[in-house]
Amino acid sequence: MTWTPESWQTKTVAQHPTYPDAAALQAALVQLKGLPPLVTSWEVNKLKAEFAAAQRGERFVLQGGDCAESFADCRAELITNRLKVLLQMSLVLTHGLKTRVTRVGRFAGQYAKPRSTDLETRNGLTLPSYRGDLVNAPEFSLEARTPDPRRLLEGHSRSAMTINFVRGLVDGGFADLHHPEYWDLDWVQHAPLAAEYQARVDAIGDSLRFMETLAGQPLSDLQRVDFYTSHEALLLWAEQAQTRQVPRQPGWFNLSTHFPWIGLRTAALEGAHVEYCRGIANPIGIKVGPSMGADWVLALCEKINPLREAGKLVLIHRMGAAKIEQYLPPLVQALRQSGHPVLWLCDPMHGNTQTAGNGLKTRAFDDIASEVAQSFRIHREGGSHLGGVHLELTGEDVTECIGGARGLTETDLERAYRSQVDPRLNYEQALELAMKILAVAGSGGTRQ
Ligand code: PEP
Ligand code: CO
Repeated sequence: MTWTPESWQTKTVAQHPTYPDAAALQAALVQLKGLPPLVTSWEVNKLKAEFAAAQRGERFVLQGGDCAESFADCRAELITNRLKVLLQMSLVLTHGLKTRVTRVGRFAGQYAKPRSTDLETRNGLTLPSYRGDLVNAPEFSLEARTPDPRRLLEGHSRSAMTINFVRGLVDGGFADLHHPEYWDLDWVQHAPLAAEYQARVDAIGDSLRFMETLAGQPLSDLQRVDFYTSHEALLLWAEQAQTRQVPRQPGWFNLSTHFPWIGLRTAALEGAHVEYCRGIANPIGIKVGPSMGADWVLALCEKINPLREAGKLVLIHRMGAAKIEQYLPPLVQALRQSGHPVLWLCDPMHGNTQTAGNGLKTRAFDDIASEVAQSFRIHREGGSHLGGVHLELTGEDVTECIGGARGLTETDLERAYRSQVDPRLNYEQALELAMKILAVAGSGGTRQ
C-alpha cells in the first residue's frame, strides 16, 4: 500500500501519449518540478472545507469552463468573459437558492484530453490523436501530432498566467457584488433572459444597500469572491511533477490545481490514475457514468477516501437525460447505505452528446436541463443531496449546443462553432440553465 508521487508508474496507464524522446521528457519534468506551484495547500484545504459544507447542503458548487483550454485561448478577453458568466450564474444561484456558492473553474490547466482512439487516419495517413495542447497540436501533420514534452512547461506557464490574471481581477474588485455591471458582456443586451437577470441584480443591490444602512458600513466581505481551479488529472507526468510536501502540513499536495478529477475513461480501480489520486491531499472528483455499477463506485470511495473525510470525495455523475433514471438511483442508495461522505455534482453535458445532421457534435439544451432536473429529484427521493453542477460553458457567443431561449437549431451550429472538442453552453444558455436550476432545486435543493 505504499504510495509515492511516482507509484502510479507501476500500474496500467490509460490515455497517455507515447513520447518518442524519453530523455527530453525527463528533462522537461526536472524543469517542471523546479518551478513554483500554482496554488497553495491553504487554498486546497479551504476548498475541501467548502465542499464539506456543500455536502451538508450549506453551499452550492458551480464548476464550469471549457471542455479543453487551448494555449491560444490564454487571452485576457476570453478569461474575463468566462469569469463574467460564472459570476452572473453564481449571482443568480446565490439569490435564488439563498445559499453561498463555491465557484470552481475548469481552467488554468485543463489542457489534456482523453480520446477514444490512440491514432487517427485521414486519406491513408495515420497519426497520433490530438490529446490536448499539453501533449500535441490539433493540426493533422506529423510534426504537430508528435507528443512534445516542452508543452508541459508551456502548459504550466499558461496556467500560471491564467490564474495570475484571475487572482488580479478578483483582488482588484472585479467580483465585487456592489458592481455587477462589471460583468456585463457586450453582446447580450438583447438576450431573452436579460430582464429577469437584471431584476435579480436590482434586488440584490437593494438588499445590499439595506444591509449596509443597518450595519452602518460597507459589507466588505462581499467585495471579493474566490475562484478555485480544476482540471482532469489525466497526464500523470505533469501531475507528479507538481506534487509536493509543504511545511507543517501532513501529506502530499498536487499544487497545480485545487481540485483534480478522474475522468470516466481512467477510473479503473487498479489503474494508474486512481493510484496517483489516492495519495494526494486535494479533494478528488470522480466522473461516474452508466457503465459504473455500485460495487465499482464504492470500491473507488474506499480507495480514495478510506478515512471518510468530509469534503474529500466528489462524485460527478454524467449519465445522460435518457439513462439517469435507471442508473443513478441504485448508486445513490448504495452510497447512502455505505455511509461514505461524498459531495454529489451533476455533469449534464457528457452523457448528452449527439451528432447533428451536418456531422458536428452537439448537445440539446433540453436534455441538459432535463438531466439537471432529474438529478435534483432523484437525490431528493433517495434521501441524498445534490450539491452542485459541473458544466462546459464559455463567455463567447458560440453556437455549439442547440436549443435554449433563442431556439438555436442545427443550422445555427455552423455560424459560430469554435470548440475543438465538446460543445459548450454559450453565455445565454448558461445563464438560462442557472435560472432553470432555481426552478428545479426546490425546497430540498439546498438546506439552509
Ligand atoms: C470532460 O469532462 O471533458 C470529459 C471528458 O468527461 P468524462 O470523463 O466524463 O467523459
Ligand atoms: Co468535455
